[in-house]
Amino acid sequence: MQNKIESLRLDLHKYNYHYYVQNAPLISDQKFDFLLKELQQLEQTYPQFYDPNSPTQRVGSDITKSFNQIQHKYPMLSLSNTYSEGEVADFYERVRKALNDDFEIVCELKYDGTSISLTYMNGALQRAVTRGDGEKGDDVTENVKTIRSIPLRLIGDNYPDEFEIRGEILMPWSVFDTLNEERERAEEQLFANPRNAAAGTLKLQNPQLVAERKLDAYLYYLLGDNLPSDEHSENLKWAEKWGFKVSNAVKKCSSLQDIYDFIQYWNIERKNLPVATDGIVLKVNSLNQQKNLGFTAKSPRWAVAYKFKAEQAVTTLESVSFQVGRTGAVTPVANLTPVLLSGTTVKRASLHNADIIESLDLHLGDQVFVEKGGEIIPKITGVDVNHRHLSGEKVRFIDTCPECGSALVRVAGEAAHYCPNDTGCPPQIVGRIEHFISRKAMNIDGFGGETAELLFKNGLIHNISDIYDLKYESVLKLERFAEKSAMNLISGIENSKKVPFERVLFALGIRFVGETVAKKLAKAFKSIDNLEKAQLPELISIDEIGERIGQSVVEFFSNLVNIEIISRLKEAGVQLEISESQTENLSEKLAGLTIVISGTFTKHSRDEYKTLIENNGGKNSGSISAKTNYLLAGENMGPAKLEKATKLGVKIISEDEFLTMIGND
Ligand code: IVH
Repeated sequence: MQNKIESLRLDLHKYNYHYYVQNAPLISDQKFDFLLKELQQLEQTYPQFYDPNSPTQRVGSDITKSFNQIQHKYPMLSLSNTYSEGEVADFYERVRKALNDDFEIVCELKYDGTSISLTYMNGALQRAVTRGDGEKGDDVTENVKTIRSIPLRLIGDNYPDEFEIRGEILMPWSVFDTLNEERERAEEQLFANPRNAAAGTLKLQNPQLVAERKLDAYLYYLLGDNLPSDEHSENLKWAEKWGFKVSNAVKKCSSLQDIYDFIQYWNIERKNLPVATDGIVLKVNSLNQQKNLGFTAKSPRWAVAYKFKAEQAVTTLESVSFQVGRTGAVTPVANLTPVLLSGTTVKRASLHNADIIESLDLHLGDQVFVEKGGEIIPKITGVDVNHRHLSGEKVRFIDTCPECGSALVRVAGEAAHYCPNDTGCPPQIVGRIEHFISRKAMNIDGFGGETAELLFKNGLIHNISDIYDLKYESVLKLERFAEKSAMNLISGIENSKKVPFERVLFALGIRFVGETVAKKLAKAFKSIDNLEKAQLPELISIDEIGERIGQSVVEFFSNLVNIEIISRLKEAGVQLEISESQTENLSEKLAGLTIVISGTFTKHSRDEYKTLIENNGGKNSGSISAKTNYLLAGENMGPAKLEKATKLGVKIISEDEFLTMIGND
């Protein structure tokens, strides 16, 4: 059976490689899924043949709480940047002088994602670590395993027993666009560019979510003692043979002109690539010559980056408007004469805050430079002062809220101006209602942002508690509502009364109280009444609740408008305390204990064990360290975890022992 399992694994690695690296599938998707399922079943039946790098391990299931910090064997340095052909020539000249011999320069694309370091031992992926501060990075192996173009096992031969390969993790434009569209619909904050989206995704706590984001990776730099060649370009070719995705935009150049040609070609052609690039990287090809040139404190002397110029357009600043967001923050927006930039028409640009307006010294009618530089929202990067009309009035930040007229405030040390009238300023009111009804909060069916606005404009709701007084008849009278949609709305509202307390607490929109904090507070205080009575010291005694959150909670309950809203929500029957079934299951039996879960179980799922640990006051962690108290071990546990636990003297317990510990056997 072991042979059958291993041959299935080899086949699936191969199909995966042809699909994700070569873009040339060998078999149909259905056939692939079928074989993968077959392997999954066999692995379940024969756990003794467990392999952490099996193709089945790409869809991680356990949630990593925090990432382990790993020291890089070789520091991850950055590259110094150049911005013109002249500066490239300076680099070339420096190298020529220092080497005093013939040399080749390899030109590559500079991929604009987040860098990663992968360690392979005996052909298997051991570890994936982020750049971090260059010395130490986060161990994101479980997340990286979900990236299909990264081989878990190498193919071919001649790879060193141990080596490191570095590259860039990227979110393709198409994935980025879809993700942002989804986030827009869910009213979540948009990612500014694919680089941020890729970096954010890599740090998600749940590998399953990472898998859904469909990241890609290009590898471009090998490190180790026994690399197959002493030329960088040859090593890249080997890496490609071992199954890595290596860019085919790699060129060996023996003259400055060759380099310029490469730059010019890709400056245009890069726009047709599926991923973002922001320049060219030039590297001395010979590893011996690289060694001779060495490093400065920050970057290698044998390589340099040439950054593409961001595309720029010049247009006229017609006016500046000020938008008030949900939190009351006021954002200045430049209204521009429409101009074409990188294929789209630009009419508006964010000016962020008063300091930016001041530093640009903006005047109405100014000719301004706009750039997109990898961001989706264009920026104003400068003003052509030579073309300024004398009549152009200086742009000043406003003193009062454009929506409600309140005097704006600016907290010391913060860049933004705020409208303090949180209970009377329309966009803030509607914003809070929108948050209350959103999917992760009360999740009210048939109720979205537009409906919230409509109901508010028609005077039917002024705050979240009014939602529960809405009558079918009055909703029906509104434009855009028919019998069925009005009915849906009312029943959606009725159903939301079953939403558990922790989500109601999140839905209230207390500043800094996100989903996780709401869960913690709900568990610690059990009811809104207890939370209302809590003073700052009690609040900050809770794990991970700091001064800033504590203060915000105290402030929220000191506002009588909020107290009134809560009392009306209570009357309406919204859950403002933990339900009995939830309380029954809570204890502090595991208080102060950190427990790692590994393997598969028969009595509960891993997720259920995680909840059991948390409900009993313990902490579930994704990886074993000196702080781990217990390793809850199921079948099929990873040998690396077992070894580490034994080494650190961590006590290993079975699921039965664990259930006895919490009195749940
Ligand atoms: S080589 C010693 N090659 O650019 C430096 N880097 O500022 C080795 N990057 O952190 C890096 N494409 O994240 C190299 N083809 C490429 C690259 C590349 C993108 C990134 C990488 C690095 C940063 C340097």
